[in-house]
Amino acid sequence: AIPAIELNDGKTIPQLGFGVWQIPNDEVGRAVAEAIGAGYRSIDTAQGYGNEKGVGAAIRDSGIARSDLYITSKLRTRDQGYDATLKSFMGSLDRLGLDYLDLFLIHWPVPAQDKYSDTWRAFVQLQRDGRIRSIGVSNFLPEHLDRIIGDSGVAPAVNQIEVHPEFQQRDVRALHRQHNIAIESYSPLGSGAALDNETIGAIASKHGKSPAQAIIRWHLQEGLIVIPKSTHADRIRANIDVFDFELDADDMASIAKLDRRDGKVGSDPATNNAIW
Ligand code: A2P
Repeated sequence: AIPAIELNDGKTIPQLGFGVWQIPNDEVGRAVAEAIGAGYRSIDTAQGYGNEKGVGAAIRDSGIARSDLYITSKLRTRDQGYDATLKSFMGSLDRLGLDYLDLFLIHWPVPAQDKYSDTWRAFVQLQRDGRIRSIGVSNFLPEHLDRIIGDSGVAPAVNQIEVHPEFQQRDVRALHRQHNIAIESYSPLGSGAALDNETIGAIASKHGKSPAQAIIRWHLQEGLIVIPKSTHADRIRANIDVFDFELDADDMASIAKLDRRDGKVGSDPATNNAIW
């Protein structure tokens, strides 16, 4: 079974899930079906990915009980603001065909819009109303976290940010520990780039595993929540087949040294105004 992480609101989240970024709506059903068949129970989508309908259909078709699934979505930037958030959230439930979400995240802070604090108050209300089990954020920098915690008195349960061996964010992660905010790693394989790293390759061979499996194992042993994405059935299965080996202290120390200042592969949260 996939281990669970306890969140600061008392709920739990599977430590390994399936991410569906960049999987088109007409392909996502097959990928989610493969993932659920392989044993994943946590699916991470977003309004901005345009594939909530496909995800919803696949989870209904899976026949898995709702209570055994963990479904995350994220609020798109243009729907930020108190009232807009309440309305937009209902749209996600409708497209997914669900009556609650396990986790809903503010996708990007977009500080230039100056709406993320009002948006967060709506998240707090939706959680009180029982429509969302856990509420969180994505791409929030420490200053954005401080603001919403200061304004609402409620810390997010998770912050989903870019973390992988070449961009480890150790200082940022230490700050999150002070509020007991769990970190979900996005682009856990560095969007694929970290797979070619020689050190990773050597560690993977030593354990008879693939580079992707070694990296996913690193996230798990770092206490991170990890949501690898793949559209290939063999990779979807391989990425969850990571509970029969363990990286040793030497492996972990070698990977710690792969952190690079310029290792970031995604957008900058301070300035991103993308459609997400
Ligand atoms: P694909 O979907 O074609 O399998 P990240 O999770 O860091 O965003 O990286 C995702 C990228 O890594 C995707 O391009 C995905 O490609 C690829 N990928 C995912 N799992 C594996 C794997 N086990 N082996 C090789 N590449 C993988």
